Amino acid sequence: MRRPYPMEGLPQHVTVYEVGPRDGLQNEPATVPAEVKAEFISRLADAGHKVIEATSFVHPRWVPQLADADELLGRLDRRPGVRYPVLVPNERGLDRALAHGVAEIAVFASATETFAAKNLNRSLESQFDMFEPVVARALEAGVRVRAYVSMCFGDPWEGPTPVSQVVSVGRRLLGLGCYELSLGDTIGVATPGHVTELIEAFDATDRLAVHFHDTYGQALANTLAALQAGVTTVDASTGGIGGCPYAESATGNLATEDLVWMLHGLGIETGLDLDRLVATSTWLAGLLGRPSPSRVVQALSKG
Ligand code: HMG
Ligand code: MG
Repeated sequence: MRRPYPMEGLPQHVTVYEVGPRDGLQNEPATVPAEVKAEFISRLADAGHKVIEATSFVHPRWVPQLADADELLGRLDRRPGVRYPVLVPNERGLDRALAHGVAEIAVFASATETFAAKNLNRSLESQFDMFEPVVARALEAGVRVRAYVSMCFGDPWEGPTPVSQVVSVGRRLLGLGCYELSLGDTIGVATPGHVTELIEAFDATDRLAVHFHDTYGQALANTLAALQAGVTTVDASTGGIGGCPYAESATGNLATEDLVWMLHGLGIETGLDLDRLVATSTWLAGLLGRPSPSRVVQALSKG
């Protein structure tokens, strides 16, 4: 057992918001059967996760890999004390989620015009016409709402995203009553100083989470910058799987195991059992037919 080496100015506890079953599986070439997804989610709960984004209630033609969202929620072994948020873009998605009694949803906005069109078939402005009734109705039904903003640091079509543009979209979402805003680096282009500048520009650090894809190998460095700026919720995906089907340059998310190795090394509590996480990633990699991209999974699964 390695002893931790703490650093000044970091939180004692970090909430790892696990997105593997949603962000991870939405980008897999093969569709994983609902019973396997349910087992995957149970294994994540066994490893200590308290928040597991289970699936998306989007249009099944847009994301066929998650077209079984209704079946999956029917099969979910919901554990007390574990949250199972689902992605919801519009009122049709909300109706589907409410029919399963979900307690938490996440809406997902774009910081750029082009990605709003590609991912949501809406403009930067009209995406809010879609989200406003969703958030209002969800809150009225007692359902908590998280919000994502994608392309916070750059966009494959428009280049770097101005910080002011991200802050404007993000503040509007928080203003609707979303409890948390997850800043998405969808294509993994951020670097640590950019992360610090964006977080400071919000002036609402206690309501921010970060969501890094690891395309350029910056996800852990960016996470450390976010923790130093006061963020305590970090999104990650089992084994580093993931991506966005509507942004080809998006590769996998920050791997949960890589994140946990760093956090535990810093003496930061997560409540997660790293060996169980690695075992789950190895099991999943066997089913997906390719090795996990996570360095920690690769190192630890060799024994
Ligand atoms: P649209 O074509 O504009 O939809 O798509 P519409 O409102 O015009 O409706 C067209 C038809 O679709 C209607 O049926 C609706 O009922 C149906 P018809 O009357 O023609 O028979 N429909 C639905 N059916 C089932 N469930 C629904 C639903 N909505 C409409 N929810 C829409 C707009 C938002 C639906 C579409 O663009 C969509 O589904 N987009 C989702 C894309 C997606 O899931 N992307 C990946 C997630 S985002 C991400 O990964 C980034 C993130 O990880 C953060 C980061 O990394 O930055 C979160
Ligand atoms: Mg993502």
